[in-house]
Amino acid sequence: MKRPVFRCSVCGAEKNVDTQQYCCTCGGAFDLCFEPPAFDRALIDSSEWSLFRYRAFLPLWDESWRGVSLGEGMTPVRALDGDTLVKLDYAMPTLSFKDRGAALVISLCKSLGVSRVLQDSSGNAGNSVAAYAARAGIQCEIFVPRGTSPGKIDMIAAHGAQVQVFDGTRDETAEACRSKARRGEAYYASHVFNPFFYQGTKTYVYEVFEQLGALPDNLFIPVGNGTLYLGVHLALDELQKAGLLPRRPTVWAVQSERCAPLLQAFEQGLDAPEQVPVQPTMAEGIAIGKPVRGGQILRLARQHGDCFAAISEEDILPARAELARKGYFVEHTTAAVYAAYLAARRRGLVKGTSLLSLCGAGLKSQGKEH
Ligand SMILES: Cc1ncc(COP(=O)(O)O)c(C=O)c1O
Ligand SMILES: [Zn+2]
Repeated sequence: MKRPVFRCSVCGAEKNVDTQQYCCTCGGAFDLCFEPPAFDRALIDSSEWSLFRYRAFLPLWDESWRGVSLGEGMTPVRALDGDTLVKLDYAMPTLSFKDRGAALVISLCKSLGVSRVLQDSSGNAGNSVAAYAARAGIQCEIFVPRGTSPGKIDMIAAHGAQVQVFDGTRDETAEACRSKARRGEAYYASHVFNPFFYQGTKTYVYEVFEQLGALPDNLFIPVGNGTLYLGVHLALDELQKAGLLPRRPTVWAVQSERCAPLLQAFEQGLDAPEQVPVQPTMAEGIAIGKPVRGGQILRLARQHGDCFAAISEEDILPARAELARKGYFVEHTTAAVYAAYLAARRRGLVKGTSLLSLCGAGLKSQGKEH
């Protein structure tokens, strides 16, 4: 396969994928110019028990992934009750869905001969990048904001990464990390800026399609920076193009009432989200005051008739307890997805079957009440 190129989502400028620049000179985030073959079950490598079974549809031009994969993906889908399905995306090597994207970004780093990576995160993406970098023999430094769950910090350090606990908000932490990346001190293995991450998260939909033979009517997705959301839309585009989707599922983007820049921009008809103050929330994974790819998310949401839902803080713990009583002990951010689903269903807004992403494991978040 020929190497794809990066294309700026704002001005259209192109760059080779081996650039050290994490975004375009104009500040725009890069997309990937990559057109996989039409999705076809016959091209799935069913002997490979990781998301790399879909490598015919992934931007890989060498075998680097073999030294990077930790056996991510292939997470079960199960019925919770009648019309409600869950996908156990916390059943991953580092216990969150971020492994999908990290596996692809670190495979890229390995292909490019990168020796040191930097990353910022609310915990889980950093955890993932640290684990995959460790596996690939790449040095790693992770910035997390003060207040991040200690369990996540311990896991990052256990993988041999340097952890910088930054005394600031999630957004300020990201900026501190990016300024270090701009100084050229290491490759910025960002789950938000690097478009390879979305090539990993798109496998969420491939798997559901392979597991169920079709897609459910509704997909409930947590959205902070939208890495799962954007990957889901990439895959839906591909399946639709291949003529495999009689009807595109409705995507429900779940935010917290305490930090809902996308929902607000959507309702106000804005092209891009405005920075909102982040009030503390137990749903730490989706507490992003200004999502970098917010404009892209809003465009997709309008184009496809997605729904936004904001959960209230009081609904998180009851939803988490209810899921635990059904056997699934999840992160508070995941409980937020369930809470959003229950609220939408109570209001009669959900038609047909729904699939909920169980995106993070319960033992990882302490979920301090604020
Ligand atoms: C468990 C969990 N769910 C959801 C999210 C939100 O992901 P994103 O910011 O890519 O939308 C995160 C992000 O860290 C997370 O850790
Ligand atoms: Zn640009």
